[in-house]
Amino acid sequence: MDPKVSKADANLQKMLAEKRIKSVEDRRVGSEVFDQKTLETLYKLANSNYLNILNGAISTGKEANVFKGVHEDGHIVAVKIYRISTSDFKKMQYYIQGDPRFRVRTTNKRQLVHAWVNKEFRNLNRCLEAKMDVPNPIIAKNNVLLMEFIGDDEENPAPTLRDQGPQNPDKMLEELIESMRKMYQDAKLVHGDLSIYNILNNNEKPVIIDVSQSVVVDHPISMELLNRDIETLLKDFSKFGASASFEDVKKEITG
Ligand SMILES: Nc1ncnc2c1ncn2[C@@H]1O[C@H](COP(=O)(O)OP(=O)(O)OP(=O)(O)O)[C@@H](O)[C@H]1O
Ligand SMILES: [Mg+2]
Repeated sequence: MDPKVSKADANLQKMLAEKRIKSVEDRRVGSEVFDQKTLETLYKLANSNYLNILNGAISTGKEANVFKGVHEDGHIVAVKIYRISTSDFKKMQYYIQGDPRFRVRTTNKRQLVHAWVNKEFRNLNRCLEAKMDVPNPIIAKNNVLLMEFIGDDEENPAPTLRDQGPQNPDKMLEELIESMRKMYQDAKLVHGDLSIYNILNNNEKPVIIDVSQSVVVDHPISMELLNRDIETLLKDFSKFGASASFEDVKKEITG
């Protein structure tokens, strides 16, 4: 066998062996995640030296699973794998249609999910260019997105704000508003699903994640989404004990 192929094969075997999916729930999801096509995608990522080992699950969401992986260079990475079977195609189509970057006319579910993952990758890049605190995207391939792992030195993932509220709510709210300003004015995007579930508390620094549904500001629904994001954020933060007026925050974000 070609040494590169055999290496990739060994890698994949290793990846699968070291998947270390422990809980019953994870095992069920495991078989759901790794359909043949997904395995092929992981195989390709291993073969092109992006991914060495796929470790345990960080999260099992509605449409995607996030795993901890090891990059070829030894770094821990986050591996987000979208399940084709449980994806919300109506939503994906709706959000993608109004986005001039995508000319996807397809109704093919797999192609839609691939476009969706590509959208998350491109959105993360735009956020990064706007100097926002988001995970650094590494590569998007089919239904798999590799990105920087946000966590501590012991390789524990950072908790969401839902799981660990801020020590200084006023300060964090201010930082988040500044992030939203950069997202709107520099990245020219609106998050669209901003809440304590999609903000990581990385040692008291907020890191915004889950930007797959984020839309360009020219998108017909961007204002509606921005208003909703601000309302949700202010409601979440009022529970933490920080408050701000909707109008002031909106003005700050949109300039
Ligand atoms: N880069 C990352 N580093 C560490 N943990 C992450 C990272 N990305 C995601 N996570 C963890 O995985 C969880 C789910 O990620 P994310 O919000 O992107 O997907 P999701 O909500 O499952 O997506 P969807 O709602 O589209 O199914 C997060 O709440 C967080 O705990
Ligand atoms: Mg999420």
